[in-house]
Amino acid sequence: MPKANSTSSPKTAVVILAAGKGTRLRSKHPKVLHEVGGKPLLAHVIAAASKVVPARDVFAIIGYEAERVRSAVEASGVGFILQQEQRGTGHALMVAREALASYDLVIVLYGDAPLITAKTIEQLRDFHLAKKAAMTVLTARLENPNGYGRIVRTKAGSDDVRAIVEQKDLKPAQQKIHEVNSGFYAFGFKALFGQIDKLGTNNRQGEFYLTDMAAILTRAKQRVVAIETRDAYEVLGGNTRAELSEIDHHMRMAKCRQLMDEGVTILYPETCVIDSDVEVGADTVIEPSVQLRGSTRVGRDTRIGSYSVILSCEIGDEVLVQTGCVLEHSVVRARASLGPYSHLRPGCEVCEEAHVGNFTELKKTRLGKGSKANHLTYLGDTEVGEKVNVGAGTITCNYDGVSKHKTIIEDGVFVGSDSILIAPIRIGRGAYVAAATTVTEDVPPDSLALGRARQIVKEGWAKQKREEKAKAHKAK
Ligand code: UD1
Ligand code: CA
Repeated sequence: MPKANSTSSPKTAVVILAAGKGTRLRSKHPKVLHEVGGKPLLAHVIAAASKVVPARDVFAIIGYEAERVRSAVEASGVGFILQQEQRGTGHALMVAREALASYDLVIVLYGDAPLITAKTIEQLRDFHLAKKAAMTVLTARLENPNGYGRIVRTKAGSDDVRAIVEQKDLKPAQQKIHEVNSGFYAFGFKALFGQIDKLGTNNRQGEFYLTDMAAILTRAKQRVVAIETRDAYEVLGGNTRAELSEIDHHMRMAKCRQLMDEGVTILYPETCVIDSDVEVGADTVIEPSVQLRGSTRVGRDTRIGSYSVILSCEIGDEVLVQTGCVLEHSVVRARASLGPYSHLRPGCEVCEEAHVGNFTELKKTRLGKGSKANHLTYLGDTEVGEKVNVGAGTITCNYDGVSKHKTIIEDGVFVGSDSILIAPIRIGRGAYVAAATTVTEDVPPDSLALGRARQIVKEGWAKQKREEKAKAHKAK
């Protein structure tokens, strides 16, 4: 009797190979942590796998920089298997034998091929079960098959595979084959582990190739079949920086198409950088050269101006973000407006109908409903109430060199231009701060704080100065 996750299907594990160093990237970082579409290669593969089986049945095989890889993706809830020494893709499976002992069906994915979808993994699984195969390999026909293992079918048009031959081991006649190995397979547990010890290292790289299982199983009279995917892009692997760039581009264009399908206008989509997890509401307009990154969510009827870079922010409906804003880890509520050239550092909340203008920087600051900080202002660690006007050039001195202090500006306050607010400080409801005041003491509600030096006027001073100068010049 098959061990089952549900009553009908065989108990299935998905194993993701992610132990390699990625020599061809010439990087100090492990290959599977290189990013496409704004997140690590491996995170994309895990996301697809976890739609097919529960995360607890997904196992990542890690080795090179194992702890870094583990901590980058462990929130996904998948299991990890350590491949201490990386002796090839076949060796990675040998190491996993014990961890997989309770499963009937083992689906193998490669952690450097992030375009794979849950739908295709399911097709691979269903084809494997329908054909009652020992091993099924997903293949694709690539115009340029360079670098990939090639599929040798028993005869043209047949489902059956005789062997998978690595690029470096191709015979001249096999150079013409355009059908490539994706690195995604389904194996019967018994078929795989019953024969895996027959793998050897007699090849150009001296590694245990998982691909050799095709020939080994065929020789053992077990069935090996191939299913060709329609979307050849899904098999692309990122071994080099150029391949990563191609995958990244493909992923981002697909993301733009998805958003456009959902009702978003994107002007010159090829200039925009939109990460895979970003969400945008209908009738929002994204101008050219915008970056929407991380977990950013944008509402409906909003406009995002050119050259704005938005990292993991929540932007509401009908918001206007003008040209050149940099917004990080902040919330912008409905009908607020920002920019041009505003900067929200992490921890800000710009409430409904509030305005943040040019060259204004906010950090850990809440700007209440309908309040404005329109020009050349810095507000840090500040609570601003509703309908407050912060004049041009106002700054909070929130840092005394040792610790940060809070500024509280209550509802309806008017802060005159060029004021300096030395925190900790509170400006009471409805108060006025005269322009150019240095506020060092709390201001009671409804009062006026005036803290600048009294003006002195010396009549005729400039004229006299000019005359003296002219006289001195003549005397020379
Ligand atoms: C592999 C396939 C090739 C296929 C291509 C598809 C083999 C021998 N070749 O080649 O047929 O066309 O993928 O992209 O399988 N890894 C480990 N442990 C190891 C070695 C590798 O976990 O000991 C991992 C790597 O981190 C990587 C994946 O396995 O995520 C594939 O390894 P890689 O070296 O990239 O194989 P390719 O040369 O691309
Ligand atoms: Ca690869």
